[in-house]
Amino acid sequence: MDERALIREAVAARRMSYAPYSSFMVGAALFCGNGAVYRGCNIENAAYGPSNCAERTAFFKAVSEGERDFAAIAVAGWPKDGKPGFAWPCGVCRQVMAEFCDPASFRIIVGTDEDNYTVRTLAELLPEGFGPASLGI
Ligand code: THU
Repeated sequence: MDERALIREAVAARRMSYAPYSSFMVGAALFCGNGAVYRGCNIENAAYGPSNCAERTAFFKAVSEGERDFAAIAVAGWPKDGKPGFAWPCGVCRQVMAEFCDPASFRIIVGTDEDNYTVRTLAELLPEGFGPASLGI
């Protein structure tokens, strides 16, 4: 799946966002090596701490279905009634990506629509990270 199509998936996933506290709606679309796409949205909680980002929702859905091979993720996030903008993955989500993805090749696509996005590798967003390779795994 190309980057434009993956951003469209993330924008569609954003519609499912449950964000009554921040009103910041985020969608993600995770593209697997086998061609499958897993969508995710942010899911907030009245206790705040248990809230989950869209990216981690997508990863946990995929991993729980047996996926282990990931090529790219698209992220689309901006305020509910606000102007579309770029939402870069938080540090916790970058660390979760580092558990399952090759930092040099995994692509992170952040944008608002298929004509407005930026692509980075995980290595660019999480330089000198600590991952499975640090433990010899
Ligand atoms: N959020 C995401 O889902 N992904 C990001 O990349 C940035 C932040 C969510 C968490 C929270 O529900 C809301 O956006 C505001 O921080």
